[in-house]
Amino acid sequence: MALQSAIINVMFGAARKASRGLLRDFGEVENLQVSKKGPADFVSTADLRAEKILQRELERARPGYGFLLEEGGGIEGTDKTHRWLIDPLDGTTNFLHGLPHFAISIALEREGQLVAGLVYDPIKDEMFWAEKGKGAYLNDRRLRVAVRTELQESLIATGIPYKGRPGHDVFHHELQTITERVAGIRRFGSAALDLAYVAAGRYDAFWERGLSPWDIAAGIVLVREAGGFVGQIGGAPMTLGAPSILTANESLFDPLSKLLAQAGV
Ligand code: IPD
Ligand code: CA
Ligand code: CA
Repeated sequence: MALQSAIINVMFGAARKASRGLLRDFGEVENLQVSKKGPADFVSTADLRAEKILQRELERARPGYGFLLEEGGGIEGTDKTHRWLIDPLDGTTNFLHGLPHFAISIALEREGQLVAGLVYDPIKDEMFWAEKGKGAYLNDRRLRVAVRTELQESLIATGIPYKGRPGHDVFHHELQTITERVAGIRRFGSAALDLAYVAAGRYDAFWERGLSPWDIAAGIVLVREAGGFVGQIGGAPMTLGAPSILTANESLFDPLSKLLAQAGV
């Protein structure tokens, strides 16, 4: 077993506790698919409940840390140097449709720097975690990004902008440009898991526009600690408020960044 620090243990505990409710609710969603009202309200309740559990557990273990919660927004702590960034359910659309691909994402920021990240897939019981300077892990196995250097052999993940959000035209250009040059494209519907899968070498790269800090914070730590590059399309350094994210190994990052930047014009 890889040696987990106290802070990672705190994050594990919170994620496991919140995941029990999510798993129960996911079972229920499968029944609700066929009901007339549909599962939408039920899912937002499940989402909120998971967030409350995470908040409570983390607050109990580290009183005074601040929060950025997807559902609850920003909460300033008495400790101004620490902040949790949380998405209690990443992959809501999958969850809503009974598709078993979703995750809890928790990151910790210290003095404005991301220092720990956890992405937990309760269906597969896959705990992806990383701590700055200490490596990235899947359960107790050390992770490294894939070593492929040829675009034509690469499997790339992305996210499609939702209905009503801007960026569809740009996305279609990007998709056309990239599809012609790679082995395959995947859109699984959880950005947190997409990033975790890049860290695990399952995907060679991932790009998406318009994500929020809670979608990517934990995944960024994972990919960096697995030896990958994280930046914006076009090559600018990554920030949590950035309009795009691109992540890949050292060889694939630049060619992909250039292709996507050209396609996005
Ligand atoms: C969404 C997922 C999805 C991405 C969306 C996100 P949610 O998060 O990460 O893969 O394409 O942009 O909003 O709503 O399921 O937490
Ligand atoms: Ca999300
Ligand atoms: Ca969410």
